[in-house]
Amino acid sequence: MEKTEYIYLTPMPIRIWHWLNAFGFVTLAVTGLNIRFPDYINIFGDYKTAIRLHNTAGFVVSASYLLWFSYYLFVARTLAKLYIPTLEDIRSGILRQAWFYFFNYFMGRPNPHQTTPENKFNPLQKTVYLVIMIFLLPLVILSGFLLMYVTPLRDIIHYVGGIKTLVSAHFLIACSFCSFLFVHIYLATLGHTPFAHFKPMWHGWEELEKQGDHDKKEDQH
Ligand code: HEM
Repeated sequence: MEKTEYIYLTPMPIRIWHWLNAFGFVTLAVTGLNIRFPDYINIFGDYKTAIRLHNTAGFVVSASYLLWFSYYLFVARTLAKLYIPTLEDIRSGILRQAWFYFFNYFMGRPNPHQTTPENKFNPLQKTVYLVIMIFLLPLVILSGFLLMYVTPLRDIIHYVGGIKTLVSAHFLIACSFCSFLFVHIYLATLGHTPFAHFKPMWHGWEELEKQGDHDKKEDQH
């Protein structure tokens, strides 16, 4: 019988960050809806409770972001290597990976990306995660912080275009996060088993696909 092989993919600080972040985000989304549309959505009884919960979840997401950033930048020192796509990734890798998700996956063909701890994201993941983690997440945190302290920070708010611009930017980035989340969770189920990518986010280890498993899948198509 073939032995199952495992690779250690997700270190503990990243797992802690990820689930704090995910829990924080879902709380932010639900409370955010309550704050934005109080006449239609009133889950928390009163408006003030929704705001208090939203602010607390904002702090959790910000603090866990610092954990993610410090770990990758100063401890593992793999931020650039893991998250910045190469020229080859941009020229052809992204398209190849998208074609796999849209078509080849359903034909039982192998994933063009072989996961290793040094290169754990495929070109599409690298690009999307880079935009999310280095651009959108800091922006939503920063705009949220400004909105929490409107009076003391009014000069900065005026400088970035005023309160209306800030509220719209915060809301639009939050919406893009919600669309990311649906796609993120769906794509995460497209491993060689539906939970193959979820397990390393829980205990760190990813089970490698055996050649036999893949041949069996091809035979089924
Ligand atoms: C309930 C919500 C969520 C679930 C179920 C979930 C699930 C997963 C899974 C299964 C993985 C590992 C496979 C992969 O890399 O695609 C992963 C990784 C990742 N997720 Fe999520 N996720 C959630 C929320 C989020 C949110 C809100 C963000 C960002 C704002 C996020 C950003 C990431 C990043 C950057 C990674 C790669 C982490 C690393 O190994 O460095 N996730 N997620």
